Amino acid sequence: MPKSKIRPIRSYVLRQGRLTKNQAEGIRAFSSLYTIPFGNSVLNWDAIFNSKGKKIIEIGFGMGHTTAIIAETLSNSNFIAIDVYSPGVGNLLNKIKDKNLKNLKIIQHDAVEVLEEMTLDESLDALHIFFPDPWHKKRHNKRRLIQEPFLELISRKLKKQGYIHIATDWEDYANWIIEIFKKNEIYQAKNIDFSKKPSYRPKTKYENRGVNLGHQVWDMVFIKS
Ligand SMILES: C[S@@+](CC[C@H](N)C(=O)[O-])C[C@H]1O[C@@H](n2cnc3c(N)ncnc32)[C@H](O)[C@@H]1O
Repeated sequence: MPKSKIRPIRSYVLRQGRLTKNQAEGIRAFSSLYTIPFGNSVLNWDAIFNSKGKKIIEIGFGMGHTTAIIAETLSNSNFIAIDVYSPGVGNLLNKIKDKNLKNLKIIQHDAVEVLEEMTLDESLDALHIFFPDPWHKKRHNKRRLIQEPFLELISRKLKKQGYIHIATDWEDYANWIIEIFKKNEIYQAKNIDFSKKPSYRPKTKYENRGVNLGHQVWDMVFIKS
């Protein structure tokens, strides 16, 4: 019997934000240099970057402000940053060019499918997810990226001792994340007091605005044992 195709629940809404002139020019001029097309072939990191640096995926880079700074700071690691948002892709392409970053590439696609289709098991040193969409209304909670099946997926993709670093400014989402990780015995929480931000993560504009309004930020790092 043919498999019925069920449309998966996506953790994002495809916003067709207007591209600025700079972003459009970034996409036109630099896509071929710094983006990897989505496809069925497995990512060969050492060949893509021509180096054997650590392999780190960032999911949902937004405008890419912190992504570029982190790649600059952790210059011995290689980064593949994933998002679906075209203005952000254009913005980050320009940053890669301006900063002459050799260790950062972009895939514009659903990160879940990139992990499923293009990522070898036990191949990643780390995953970064900063300020994932909180989907705060109860009826939208099912759209949250971090769910039990997602955790199973990344458990397969991370190496032993690989880490996942998540930051959020939604207390409810922070508690939800902790609960999901607690159920999965493979992870140890490294930073459960939430207050210590690893030094490589700079604060974003968005985050600073929230902090000024009295929002707290929870940084959580879990290590795969
Ligand atoms: C709230 S924004 C945060 C952006 C950025 N990390 C920051 O801190 O400013 C979340 C981003 O995640 C992206 N996103 C959500 N689910 C995704 C998925 N499954 N694959 C790729 N990107 C996703 C959205 O398009 C959006 O740009």
